[in-house]
Amino acid sequence: MTDQILRSIAAQHGTPTYVYDLDVVTSRLERVRRAFSGFDVHYAVKANALGALLVHLRELGTGAEALTVGELERALRAGFEPQRVILGGPGHTPSLVQQALTSGVRLVSLDSLSAWALWRDTGGPETRFLIRLNPAFDPHTHQHLATAAADSKFGVPPAQALELATTIQARGQLAGFHVHAGSMLADPAVAELVVAALEPLYRRFSDLELVDFGGGFAVPDVDLEAFAEPLRAFTARHRLRALIEPGRFLVAEAGVLLTTVLHEKYGGPRDHLIADAGMADLIRPALYDAEHPLRVVAAEPLSVAAGSGSEAGSVSDTDDGLGRPLDVDGPLCENADRLARDSELGRQPAGTLLAVEAAGAYGYAMASNYVSSLRPAQVVVRDGRARLASRREVPADLWRLEEI
Ligand code: LLP
Repeated sequence: MTDQILRSIAAQHGTPTYVYDLDVVTSRLERVRRAFSGFDVHYAVKANALGALLVHLRELGTGAEALTVGELERALRAGFEPQRVILGGPGHTPSLVQQALTSGVRLVSLDSLSAWALWRDTGGPETRFLIRLNPAFDPHTHQHLATAAADSKFGVPPAQALELATTIQARGQLAGFHVHAGSMLADPAVAELVVAALEPLYRRFSDLELVDFGGGFAVPDVDLEAFAEPLRAFTARHRLRALIEPGRFLVAEAGVLLTTVLHEKYGGPRDHLIADAGMADLIRPALYDAEHPLRVVAAEPLSVAAGSGSEAGSVSDTDDGLGRPLDVDGPLCENADRLARDSELGRQPAGTLLAVEAAGAYGYAMASNYVSSLRPAQVVVRDGRARLASRREVPADLWRLEEI
């Protein structure tokens, strides 16, 4: 997306605003499909559930991976065929089971014996199951994202997987096994560990049809071919159909969060820029110490409101700020409210339009109304043309669920 488009979106819709380039999503999907040729791609809706994005991915032929009633509804509303939706996650509820059955979703990943008990008692005979394995290895990622770790809550240990598989297979409902090793996986050696964990299970149950390798490919880039190699060999060896569930890899790089510098604060041990977006809009820096590159899109103030902040925020010290650490912080009232620590951005006057990059995944998806912040607008761009895909919240949205 050109700075010119981003500037005009900011002028029209204000900031903070998320902008997603659908053409980038298309090319990221092409990359995944080239590396994992023959695999069925199910987009992990949790990364970004915006309707316009879901429709775009559905038109490109992906399936969807959903884990809540809300995600399932969103996927169906975006036109995904129920048989193209896989239901995963550790928290299945009776209402989710009901909704899956009535809408015709037929593939479910089981995360526990107790989830199986729920499906066994309330599910239908046509449902096919994957059993999510806890492969018990270190996938070399942030501890919050390391779902393969033995002490994580995810999946079942191998012995339990065997037992459960025997039971489900006896009922003719076992499709295969599922491993999602973690998120932001940058080391292709993880794929070897996944295969090593699955191998004994697929040897024991030789007539399975499906394997689900999960998602988790790191951004901005990772050697997808190296990742795919052992997974493809495994799939061929056992004559399986293979699923993958990428979320972040498809959408992160397609999105930016536009934000305006409200104030400059100099004179203390660190320089601070106060932006109009923070942890309520993008919590990843606060929660995972995630680093999202920041860049200046427009140095000139775009609006009177932002411009007037410039006067208020500037400090007329003689220090030019060179060499001083600079944080780009949000507008809320706690230290975690930060977009970037030790940013290279340099001092920027109030009114400057910034883009927080690689914000298309788990950005808006994890946005909140903390401090009664209004969640940002979302705009999609395709063929260089911008379109509002979700409006900015207004104060009335904050209490629309309340009764007094
Ligand atoms: N499949 C399953 C079963 C998952 O749990 C996840 C993500 C995915 C697929 C997609 O993973 P991806 O390709 O997007 O890495 N909020 C965190 C990320 C949490 C990921 C949770 N599970 C973040 O902002 O980094």
